Amino acid sequence: MVDKNRLITENELLKNNKDGKLWILIDNKVYDLTEYQNEHPGSDSILHDVMDIDATQEFQDVGHSTEADKIKESYQIGIIDRDSLNKMTISNNCTNIELENNKFKTLLSIGIFIFIFIMIVYSVNTV
Ligand code: HEM
Repeated sequence: MVDKNRLITENELLKNNKDGKLWILIDNKVYDLTEYQNEHPGSDSILHDVMDIDATQEFQDVGHSTEADKIKESYQIGIIDRDSLNKMTISNNCTNIELENNKFKTLLSIGIFIFIFIMIVYSVNTV
């Protein structure tokens, strides 16, 4: 029985992407697609292209079906040990946090601008 919550380091993941073996990182989870790669409807070569990077974005961009999600879950062999990350980056989570931060900063700037504008209009009218 595979322990789907086993922590897998970046080194272990990269080491297993050789000699026909294929481990992929999607959404912090590691999938062993060695057996599945030749059955993949989107081809095995597209999977090889993302085997050394965080493939979360690429997986999502295709708009995979819920059936594909189910197949994916059955190949999960662990969770990435985030502390071990060196070459690969967890693109998705970082991007989301950065996007939220940027949105907050933009709204704050607009708020401050409107406040200053109202204060100027108010002071000009009261003089
Ligand atoms: C565990 C990982 C994956 C599984 C189980 C999986 C499974 C599938 C399945 C079942 C389909 C058929 C359409 C659907 O049901 O959505 C599909 C299509 C496709 N997949 Fe994946 N996929 C995986 C990862 C990826 C990744 C990482 C990429 C991109 C780098 C990718 C690219 C594609 C493409 C381009 C198609 C479209 C094929 C077409 O319609 O011509 N897949 N995949």
